[in-house]
Amino acid sequence: MTSSLSHSELISIAEEYGTPLYVYHAEKIKEQYGKLQNAFGHTNTIFFYACKALTNVNILRYIRNLGANVDCSSVNEVKLALHAGFPASRILYTSNGIDFDEIKEAKELGVYINIDSLSNLEKFGMAFGHSYPVGVRLRPNILAGGNIKISTGHDKSKFGIPVDQVDRILKLVDAYQLRISDLHIHTGSEIKDVDVFLKGVDVLFDIAPHFEHLEFIDLGGGFKVASKAGEQETDIPLLAEKVGRAFANHPYKNGKKLQVWFEPGKFLVSAAGHFITKVNVLKETSAAEFVSVNSGFNHLIRPMFYDAYHHIENISNPEGPMKNYSVVGNICETDTFAWDRPLNEVREGDYLVFRNAGAYGFEMSSNFNSRFKPAEVLAMEGKTHLIRRRDQFDDLLRNQVEVI
Ligand code: LLP
Repeated sequence: MTSSLSHSELISIAEEYGTPLYVYHAEKIKEQYGKLQNAFGHTNTIFFYACKALTNVNILRYIRNLGANVDCSSVNEVKLALHAGFPASRILYTSNGIDFDEIKEAKELGVYINIDSLSNLEKFGMAFGHSYPVGVRLRPNILAGGNIKISTGHDKSKFGIPVDQVDRILKLVDAYQLRISDLHIHTGSEIKDVDVFLKGVDVLFDIAPHFEHLEFIDLGGGFKVASKAGEQETDIPLLAEKVGRAFANHPYKNGKKLQVWFEPGKFLVSAAGHFITKVNVLKETSAAEFVSVNSGFNHLIRPMFYDAYHHIENISNPEGPMKNYSVVGNICETDTFAWDRPLNEVREGDYLVFRNAGAYGFEMSSNFNSRFKPAEVLAMEGKTHLIRRRDQFDDLLRNQVEVI
Protein backbone atom coordinates (compact mmCIF):
# COMPACT_ATOMS: atom_id res chain seq x y z
CA MET A 1 0.00 0.00 0.00
CA THR A 2 1.38 3.43 -0.83
CA SER A 3 -0.22 6.60 0.43
CA SER A 4 -0.64 9.56 -1.87
CA LEU A 5 -2.75 12.65 -2.35
CA SER A 6 -4.56 12.90 -5.69
CA HIS A 7 -4.25 15.87 -8.06
CA SER A 8 -7.77 17.00 -7.24
CA GLU A 9 -7.09 16.81 -3.49
CA LEU A 10 -3.95 18.90 -3.94
CA ILE A 11 -5.81 21.46 -6.05
CA SER A 12 -8.57 21.85 -3.52
CA ILE A 13 -5.99 22.23 -0.72
CA ALA A 14 -4.22 24.91 -2.80
CA GLU A 15 -7.53 26.72 -3.39
CA GLU A 16 -8.40 26.61 0.29
CA TYR A 17 -5.06 27.68 1.79
CA GLY A 18 -3.43 29.61 -1.06
CA THR A 19 0.04 29.14 -2.51
CA PRO A 20 2.97 28.75 -2.20
CA LEU A 21 2.13 26.00 0.23
CA TYR A 22 3.76 23.00 1.86
CA VAL A 23 1.40 20.06 2.30
CA TYR A 24 2.44 17.03 4.36
CA HIS A 25 0.63 13.74 4.12
CA ALA A 26 0.66 12.09 7.54
CA GLU A 27 -0.12 8.58 6.33
CA LYS A 28 2.97 8.65 4.10
CA ILE A 29 5.17 9.34 7.13
CA LYS A 30 3.52 6.41 8.88
CA GLU A 31 4.12 4.21 5.86
CA GLN A 32 7.82 5.07 5.81
CA TYR A 33 8.21 4.46 9.54
CA GLY A 34 6.36 1.17 9.10
CA LYS A 35 8.96 0.05 6.55
CA LEU A 36 11.71 0.55 9.12
CA GLN A 37 9.79 -1.19 11.88
CA ASN A 38 8.86 -4.15 9.72
CA ALA A 39 12.39 -4.64 8.48
CA PHE A 40 14.17 -4.18 11.79
CA GLY A 41 11.43 -5.61 14.04
CA HIS A 42 13.40 -8.75 14.91
CA THR A 43 16.60 -6.82 15.71
CA ASN A 44 17.56 -4.65 18.65
CA THR A 45 17.31 -1.38 16.71
CA ILE A 46 15.58 1.91 17.42
CA PHE A 47 15.06 5.03 15.30
CA PHE A 48 15.57 8.67 16.12
CA TYR A 49 13.84 10.99 13.64
CA ALA A 50 16.43 13.59 12.56
CA CYS A 51 14.07 16.49 13.07
CA LYS A 52 16.28 19.04 11.31
CA ALA A 53 14.44 17.80 8.19
CA LEU A 54 11.13 19.23 9.38
CA THR A 55 10.42 20.56 12.86
CA ASN A 56 6.79 21.60 12.74
CA VAL A 57 5.57 20.60 16.18
CA ASN A 58 2.60 18.72 14.73
CA ILE A 59 4.97 16.58 12.68
CA LEU A 60 7.05 15.97 15.80
CA ARG A 61 3.95 14.88 17.73
CA TYR A 62 2.78 12.66 14.90
CA ILE A 63 6.17 10.95 14.76
CA ARG A 64 6.28 10.68 18.55
CA ASN A 65 2.91 8.92 18.44
CA LEU A 66 4.25 6.49 15.86
CA GLY A 67 6.76 5.46 18.50
CA ALA A 68 9.97 6.92 17.09
CA ASN A 69 12.55 8.82 19.12
CA VAL A 70 14.02 12.10 17.98
CA ASP A 71 17.52 13.32 17.02
CA CYS A 72 18.24 17.03 17.42
CA SER A 73 20.97 19.25 16.04
CA SER A 74 20.58 22.22 18.36
CA VAL A 75 19.39 22.76 21.88
CA ASN A 76 16.41 24.59 20.43
CA GLU A 77 15.41 21.45 18.57
CA VAL A 78 15.73 19.61 21.90
CA LYS A 79 13.35 22.15 23.44
CA LEU A 80 10.93 21.79 20.53
CA ALA A 81 11.00 18.01 20.97
CA LEU A 82 10.29 18.39 24.70
CA HIS A 83 7.49 20.82 23.83
CA ALA A 84 6.10 18.21 21.44
CA GLY A 85 5.92 15.76 24.33
CA PHE A 86 8.97 13.56 23.77
CA PRO A 87 10.36 12.53 27.16
CA ALA A 88 14.06 13.32 27.58
CA SER A 89 14.79 9.59 27.46
CA ARG A 90 13.69 9.56 23.80
CA ILE A 91 15.74 12.58 22.73
CA LEU A 92 19.25 12.55 21.33
CA TYR A 93 21.27 15.68 20.74
CA THR A 94 24.01 15.23 18.15
CA SER A 95 26.03 18.39 18.52
CA ASN A 96 28.55 19.74 16.08
CA GLY A 97 31.07 22.50 16.72
CA ILE A 98 28.95 24.19 19.37
CA ASP A 99 29.69 26.23 22.46
CA PHE A 100 30.05 23.99 25.51
CA ASP A 101 27.30 25.94 27.31
CA GLU A 102 24.81 24.37 24.92
CA ILE A 103 26.01 20.89 25.86
CA LYS A 104 25.62 21.80 29.53
CA GLU A 105 22.08 22.94 28.80
CA ALA A 106 21.27 19.69 27.01
CA LYS A 107 22.70 17.75 29.96
CA GLU A 108 20.47 19.71 32.34
CA LEU A 109 17.52 18.72 30.15
CA GLY A 110 18.52 15.09 30.62
CA VAL A 111 18.83 14.00 26.98
CA TYR A 112 21.37 11.72 25.30
CA ILE A 113 24.29 13.69 23.92
CA ASN A 114 26.77 12.97 21.13
CA ILE A 115 29.92 15.08 21.21
CA ASP A 116 31.94 15.63 18.07
CA SER A 117 35.22 17.23 19.17
CA LEU A 118 38.05 16.40 21.54
CA SER A 119 37.77 19.90 22.90
CA ASN A 120 34.12 19.56 24.00
CA LEU A 121 34.72 16.01 25.18
CA GLU A 122 37.44 17.26 27.48
CA LYS A 123 35.19 20.04 28.80
CA PHE A 124 32.49 17.44 29.36
CA GLY A 125 34.97 15.29 31.27
CA MET A 126 36.06 18.20 33.45
CA ALA A 127 32.48 19.21 34.21
CA PHE A 128 30.76 15.85 34.64
CA GLY A 129 33.36 13.07 34.69
CA HIS A 130 31.73 9.69 35.14
CA SER A 131 28.40 11.07 36.34
CA TYR A 132 26.61 11.37 32.99
CA PRO A 133 26.87 9.01 29.99
CA VAL A 134 27.94 10.51 26.71
CA GLY A 135 28.29 9.47 23.06
CA VAL A 136 31.14 10.26 20.74
CA ARG A 137 30.67 11.16 17.10
CA LEU A 138 33.43 9.73 14.96
CA ARG A 139 34.45 10.53 11.42
CA PRO A 140 34.77 7.16 9.71
CA ASN A 141 36.70 8.49 6.67
CA ILE A 142 34.16 7.02 4.27
CA LEU A 143 33.05 9.03 1.24
CA ALA A 144 29.39 8.35 0.47
CA GLY A 145 26.09 10.03 -0.15
CA GLY A 146 24.64 12.35 -2.76
CA ASN A 147 26.02 15.80 -3.46
CA ILE A 148 29.39 16.52 -1.81
CA LYS A 149 27.73 19.14 0.40
CA ILE A 150 25.73 16.39 2.08
CA SER A 151 28.62 13.90 2.41
CA THR A 152 29.85 14.15 5.96
CA GLY A 153 31.98 11.12 6.77
CA HIS A 154 34.90 11.61 4.38
CA ASP A 155 38.46 12.45 5.34
CA LYS A 156 38.11 16.18 4.66
CA SER A 157 34.87 16.62 6.56
CA LYS A 158 34.55 18.83 9.63
CA PHE A 159 32.21 16.35 11.32
CA GLY A 160 33.14 14.02 14.14
CA ILE A 161 36.46 13.07 15.67
CA PRO A 162 38.58 11.31 13.04
CA VAL A 163 38.79 7.58 13.82
CA ASP A 164 42.56 7.82 13.64
CA GLN A 165 42.40 9.95 16.82
CA VAL A 166 40.84 7.24 18.95
CA ASP A 167 43.92 7.10 21.18
CA ARG A 168 43.29 10.73 22.09
CA ILE A 169 39.68 9.94 22.96
CA LEU A 170 40.88 7.08 25.13
CA LYS A 171 43.26 9.38 26.99
CA LEU A 172 40.33 11.64 27.85
CA VAL A 173 38.23 8.66 28.88
CA ASP A 174 41.03 7.62 31.19
CA ALA A 175 41.72 11.07 32.57
CA TYR A 176 38.09 11.88 33.41
CA GLN A 177 36.63 8.37 33.79
CA LEU A 178 34.19 9.24 30.98
CA ARG A 179 31.24 6.87 30.55
CA ILE A 180 31.07 6.53 26.77
CA SER A 181 27.70 4.92 26.11
CA ASP A 182 27.57 5.22 22.36
CA LEU A 183 29.73 5.55 19.29
CA HIS A 184 28.15 7.53 16.48
CA ILE A 185 28.76 8.09 12.80
CA HIS A 186 26.72 9.90 10.17
CA THR A 187 28.37 9.27 6.83
CA GLY A 188 26.12 11.37 4.64
CA SER A 189 22.67 11.85 3.17
CA GLU A 190 21.15 9.90 0.24
CA ILE A 191 23.19 6.73 0.70
CA LYS A 192 21.70 4.06 -1.51
CA ASP A 193 24.31 1.35 -1.09
CA VAL A 194 23.61 -0.54 2.14
CA ASP A 195 27.22 -1.74 2.27
CA VAL A 196 28.28 1.81 3.14
CA PHE A 197 26.51 1.34 6.48
CA LEU A 198 28.26 -2.01 6.92
CA LYS A 199 31.63 -0.38 6.28
CA GLY A 200 30.77 2.04 9.07
CA VAL A 201 29.86 -0.90 11.31
CA ASP A 202 33.29 -2.45 10.64
CA VAL A 203 35.04 0.78 11.56
CA LEU A 204 33.11 0.98 14.83
CA PHE A 205 33.54 -2.71 15.68
CA ASP A 206 37.30 -2.26 15.44
CA ILE A 207 37.32 0.32 18.17
CA ALA A 208 34.26 -0.69 20.25
CA PRO A 209 36.22 -3.06 22.53
CA HIS A 210 38.13 -0.08 23.94
CA PHE A 211 34.96 1.37 25.44
CA GLU A 212 33.83 -0.62 28.44
CA HIS A 213 30.54 1.23 29.07
CA LEU A 214 29.29 1.02 25.50
CA GLU A 215 25.59 0.28 25.06
CA PHE A 216 24.68 1.70 21.65
CA ILE A 217 26.09 1.98 18.17
CA ASP A 218 24.55 4.91 16.31
CA LEU A 219 24.83 4.67 12.54
CA GLY A 220 23.26 8.07 11.82
CA GLY A 221 20.82 8.83 9.04
CA GLY A 222 21.15 9.09 5.30
CA PHE A 223 18.75 6.57 3.75
CA LYS A 224 18.06 7.51 0.16
CA VAL A 225 14.57 8.23 -1.07
CA ALA A 226 13.49 7.84 -4.70
CA SER A 227 13.11 11.22 -6.35
CA LYS A 228 12.79 10.32 -10.06
CA ALA A 229 10.94 7.62 -11.93
CA GLY A 230 13.06 4.47 -11.96
CA GLU A 231 15.05 5.40 -8.86
CA GLN A 232 15.03 3.12 -5.84
CA GLU A 233 15.21 4.06 -2.19
CA THR A 234 17.74 2.38 0.10
CA ASP A 235 16.84 -1.30 0.37
CA ILE A 236 15.76 -1.25 4.02
CA PRO A 237 15.00 -5.01 4.36
CA LEU A 238 18.47 -5.82 2.98
CA LEU A 239 20.06 -3.28 5.32
CA ALA A 240 18.18 -4.80 8.27
CA GLU A 241 19.30 -8.28 7.32
CA LYS A 242 22.95 -7.27 6.95
CA VAL A 243 23.12 -5.08 10.03
CA GLY A 244 21.21 -7.70 12.04
CA ARG A 245 23.69 -10.37 10.97
CA ALA A 246 26.74 -8.19 11.69
CA PHE A 247 25.55 -7.47 15.21
CA ALA A 248 24.39 -11.03 15.90
CA ASN A 249 27.91 -12.22 15.02
CA HIS A 250 29.67 -9.54 16.99
CA PRO A 251 30.86 -10.87 20.30
CA TYR A 252 30.72 -7.83 22.53
CA LYS A 253 32.39 -8.10 25.91
CA ASN A 254 30.66 -9.55 28.98
CA GLY A 255 27.88 -11.04 26.89
CA LYS A 256 26.46 -7.52 26.42
CA LYS A 257 24.43 -6.89 23.26
CA LEU A 258 24.79 -3.51 21.65
CA GLN A 259 21.63 -1.72 20.54
CA VAL A 260 21.68 -0.15 17.09
CA TRP A 261 20.43 3.37 16.51
CA PHE A 262 19.59 5.10 13.24
CA GLU A 263 18.65 8.74 12.67
CA PRO A 264 16.57 8.95 9.51
CA GLY A 265 15.38 12.39 8.42
CA LYS A 266 14.58 12.36 4.70
CA PHE A 267 13.39 8.78 4.74
CA LEU A 268 10.53 9.64 7.08
CA VAL A 269 9.30 12.96 5.76
CA SER A 270 10.62 13.67 2.26
CA ALA A 271 7.99 11.89 0.19
CA ALA A 272 5.21 13.03 2.51
CA GLY A 273 5.80 16.64 1.45
CA HIS A 274 4.31 18.43 -1.56
CA PHE A 275 5.20 21.99 -2.36
CA ILE A 276 2.46 23.68 -4.38
CA THR A 277 3.20 26.80 -6.39
CA LYS A 278 1.23 28.80 -8.94
CA VAL A 279 2.50 29.93 -12.32
CA ASN A 280 2.88 33.71 -12.46
CA VAL A 281 4.40 34.26 -15.88
CA LEU A 282 5.32 32.35 -19.04
CA LYS A 283 8.23 33.77 -21.02
CA GLU A 284 9.37 32.44 -24.38
CA THR A 285 13.02 33.01 -25.26
CA SER A 286 15.42 31.49 -27.76
CA ALA A 287 17.10 29.53 -24.94
CA ALA A 288 14.07 28.22 -23.11
CA GLU A 289 10.47 28.68 -22.33
CA PHE A 290 10.50 29.97 -18.76
CA VAL A 291 7.78 29.21 -16.28
CA SER A 292 8.02 31.61 -13.32
CA VAL A 293 6.23 30.39 -10.24
CA ASN A 294 5.21 32.36 -7.16
CA SER A 295 8.14 31.03 -5.15
CA GLY A 296 11.90 30.69 -5.38
CA PHE A 297 14.97 29.37 -3.63
CA ASN A 298 13.81 31.33 -0.61
CA HIS A 299 11.19 28.60 -0.18
CA LEU A 300 12.87 25.52 -1.62
CA ILE A 301 16.62 25.86 -1.80
CA ARG A 302 17.57 22.27 -2.59
CA PRO A 303 17.78 22.54 -6.41
CA MET A 304 20.05 25.59 -6.29
CA PHE A 305 22.09 24.47 -3.30
CA TYR A 306 22.61 20.77 -3.92
CA ASP A 307 21.53 20.40 -7.57
CA ALA A 308 18.72 18.34 -6.09
CA TYR A 309 16.08 16.94 -8.42
CA HIS A 310 12.46 17.51 -7.46
CA HIS A 311 9.84 15.93 -9.67
CA ILE A 312 7.42 18.63 -10.84
CA GLU A 313 3.87 18.05 -12.07
CA ASN A 314 1.35 20.38 -13.61
CA ILE A 315 -1.65 19.26 -11.58
CA SER A 316 -3.91 21.79 -13.30
CA ASN A 317 -3.45 20.27 -16.74
CA PRO A 318 -2.42 16.63 -16.27
CA GLU A 319 -3.70 15.58 -19.68
CA GLY A 320 -2.05 18.46 -21.57
CA PRO A 321 0.58 17.72 -24.26
CA MET A 322 4.12 17.39 -22.96
CA LYS A 323 6.50 20.30 -23.60
CA ASN A 324 9.88 21.25 -22.20
CA TYR A 325 10.16 24.18 -19.81
CA SER A 326 12.60 25.81 -17.49
CA VAL A 327 10.91 26.27 -14.16
CA VAL A 328 12.26 29.27 -12.28
CA GLY A 329 11.43 31.29 -9.21
CA ASN A 330 10.66 34.98 -8.78
CA ILE A 331 13.75 35.84 -6.75
CA CYS A 332 16.07 38.58 -8.00
CA GLU A 333 18.92 36.24 -8.79
CA THR A 334 19.35 33.06 -10.78
CA ASP A 335 16.77 30.83 -9.27
CA THR A 336 16.28 27.69 -11.33
CA PHE A 337 14.17 24.82 -10.06
CA ALA A 338 14.47 22.73 -13.23
CA TRP A 339 16.00 23.23 -16.67
CA ASP A 340 14.52 21.71 -19.79
CA ARG A 341 11.94 19.71 -17.88
CA PRO A 342 9.07 17.94 -19.64
CA LEU A 343 5.73 19.06 -18.20
CA ASN A 344 2.15 18.90 -19.33
CA GLU A 345 1.46 22.15 -21.14
CA VAL A 346 1.69 25.03 -18.68
CA ARG A 347 -0.62 28.05 -18.59
CA GLU A 348 -0.41 31.09 -16.35
CA GLY A 349 -2.38 30.36 -13.18
CA ASP A 350 -1.69 26.60 -13.25
CA TYR A 351 -0.58 24.85 -10.07
CA LEU A 352 2.80 23.12 -10.21
CA VAL A 353 3.57 20.67 -7.45
CA PHE A 354 7.10 19.76 -6.37
CA ARG A 355 7.38 16.24 -4.99
CA ASN A 356 9.63 15.01 -2.18
CA ALA A 357 9.50 18.41 -0.54
CA GLY A 358 8.91 17.32 3.05
CA ALA A 359 12.55 17.18 4.13
CA TYR A 360 14.71 20.31 4.22
CA GLY A 361 12.08 22.25 2.25
CA PHE A 362 10.21 24.58 4.57
CA GLU A 363 12.92 23.99 7.13
CA MET A 364 15.57 25.72 5.01
CA SER A 365 13.29 28.51 3.79
CA SER A 366 14.00 32.18 4.37
CA ASN A 367 12.51 35.64 3.93
CA PHE A 368 14.98 36.62 1.20
CA ASN A 369 13.62 39.46 -0.95
CA SER A 370 11.30 40.20 1.97
CA ARG A 371 8.92 37.55 0.79
CA PHE A 372 6.70 35.66 3.17
CA LYS A 373 7.52 32.11 4.17
CA PRO A 374 4.86 29.69 2.94
CA ALA A 375 2.10 28.20 5.03
CA GLU A 376 2.16 24.53 6.03
CA VAL A 377 -0.79 22.15 5.95
CA LEU A 378 -1.11 18.64 7.35
CA ALA A 379 -3.38 16.19 5.54
CA MET A 380 -4.34 13.45 7.97
CA GLU A 381 -7.12 10.89 8.05
CA GLY A 382 -8.91 12.57 5.15
CA LYS A 383 -8.88 16.04 6.72
CA THR A 384 -6.57 19.01 6.31
CA HIS A 385 -5.22 21.27 9.05
CA LEU A 386 -3.30 24.51 8.82
CA ILE A 387 -0.18 23.86 10.92
CA ARG A 388 1.67 27.09 10.21
CA ARG A 389 0.10 30.25 8.95
CA ARG A 390 1.69 32.11 6.08
CA ASP A 391 3.91 35.01 7.16
CA GLN A 392 2.26 38.40 7.28
CA PHE A 393 3.82 41.81 6.76
CA ASP A 394 4.34 42.29 10.52
CA ASP A 395 6.52 39.18 10.60
CA LEU A 396 9.08 40.96 8.43
CA LEU A 397 9.43 43.68 11.05
CA ARG A 398 8.98 41.47 14.11
CA ASN A 399 12.57 41.40 15.36
CA GLN A 400 13.76 44.63 13.88
CA VAL A 401 14.66 47.39 16.31
CA GLU A 402 13.81 50.75 14.75
CA VAL A 403 16.41 53.22 16.00
CA ILE A 404 16.21 55.76 13.20
N1 LLP B 1 21.99 12.49 11.68
C1 LLP B 1 22.86 13.50 11.57
C2 LLP B 1 23.91 13.67 12.58
C3 LLP B 1 22.76 14.39 10.48
O1 LLP B 1 23.64 15.39 10.36
C4 LLP B 1 21.73 14.22 9.53
C5 LLP B 1 21.59 15.13 8.40
C6 LLP B 1 20.82 13.15 9.71
C7 LLP B 1 21.00 12.30 10.79
C8 LLP B 1 19.67 12.90 8.78
O2 LLP B 1 20.09 12.65 7.48
P1 LLP B 1 18.98 12.22 6.39
O3 LLP B 1 18.40 10.91 6.87
O4 LLP B 1 17.95 13.27 6.36
O5 LLP B 1 19.73 12.10 5.12
N2 LLP B 1 19.81 19.65 3.68
C9 LLP B 1 20.31 18.52 2.93
C10 LLP B 1 20.55 17.31 3.80
C11 LLP B 1 21.55 17.61 4.90
C12 LLP B 1 21.58 16.55 5.94
C13 LLP B 1 22.32 17.05 7.14
N3 LLP B 1 22.39 16.09 8.17
C14 LLP B 1 19.35 18.21 1.80
O6 LLP B 1 18.36 18.92 1.64
O7 LLP B 1 19.58 17.27 1.04
